[in-house]
Amino acid sequence: MNLKGKDIISIKDFSKSELDFILKYAKKMVPFAQGKNNTSLLQGKILSSLFFEPSTRTRLSFESAMSRLDGRIIGFADPTITSQKKGETLADTIRMADAYSDVIVLRHPLEGAARLAAEFANVPVLNAGDGAGRHPTQCLLDLFTILTEKKNIEGQNIVLLGDLKYGRTVHSLAYALSLYGADLTFVSPKSLQMPKEMVEECKNLGVTPASTTKLEKVINKADVIYVTRIQKERFPDPEEYSRVVGIYQMNASMLTNVKKDMIIMHPLPRVTEIAPDVDMTSHALYFKQAFNGIPVRMALLSLVTGVML
Ligand code: CP
Repeated sequence: MNLKGKDIISIKDFSKSELDFILKYAKKMVPFAQGKNNTSLLQGKILSSLFFEPSTRTRLSFESAMSRLDGRIIGFADPTITSQKKGETLADTIRMADAYSDVIVLRHPLEGAARLAAEFANVPVLNAGDGAGRHPTQCLLDLFTILTEKKNIEGQNIVLLGDLKYGRTVHSLAYALSLYGADLTFVSPKSLQMPKEMVEECKNLGVTPASTTKLEKVINKADVIYVTRIQKERFPDPEEYSRVVGIYQMNASMLTNVKKDMIIMHPLPRVTEIAPDVDMTSHALYFKQAFNGIPVRMALLSLVTGVML
């Protein structure tokens, strides 16, 4: 399968066989991601890492992935130190990164920014999150994590919990999990429900998600609970945020009757939605999930630059 030069803007840009291929290839990257094996696969290649919004995991894991492949990194984590401050447009910034590197990773607060960037770049653009839009590489590492832990996705009872309106990771994930035939339940306050068009996308793929406001109704039959943070920064109205902040808070005492092998995932950062006492339980998978960003992003960087193991 040849993905050389492909932009990665939305998980919907991939067929299921392409997703299967990427996930299988990512598995090969694990020993390199762990530093157990070394490779010079991307020696001589340069990554532009352009972060117009805060990030810990996505930026550091992309940069770690490029370093593990022996490539180099240019870029910024703070746009206020760039010529954007002097009024330069995103299109012109992208033109420069295109001239200076072999692949661009872009996080931007505006939905659609990555798609726009791809129009101005000849090198591949990887969307590292665009506003409340999409976060396809997070989705891939989430699929990778579920597959690694559960061996298959079809028929797994997967609960998506929290801010399903503004949480971009769950938008990509609901689509992808439907493609794989998961059994989906959406748990959120009424004001933060999954957007209707995304529920329709699931239905078009043959999955009709259940929906509730009460986690306690579904927690004990879940195979996976995917927790999300209430996305404070995306609320247009602070009043609306104050009505829902802290609405779901998982703690160890809630896990007494859950399935023994139920896993809790979270794209992170967490704030109050998972208490630290959950970290010590066998259900907590979110730090391993965050590590999985490295092999998955190594695979993507290798595939889109066309230099493969
Ligand atoms: N999961 C995720 O996107 O985390 P960061 O915002 O820290 O990159």
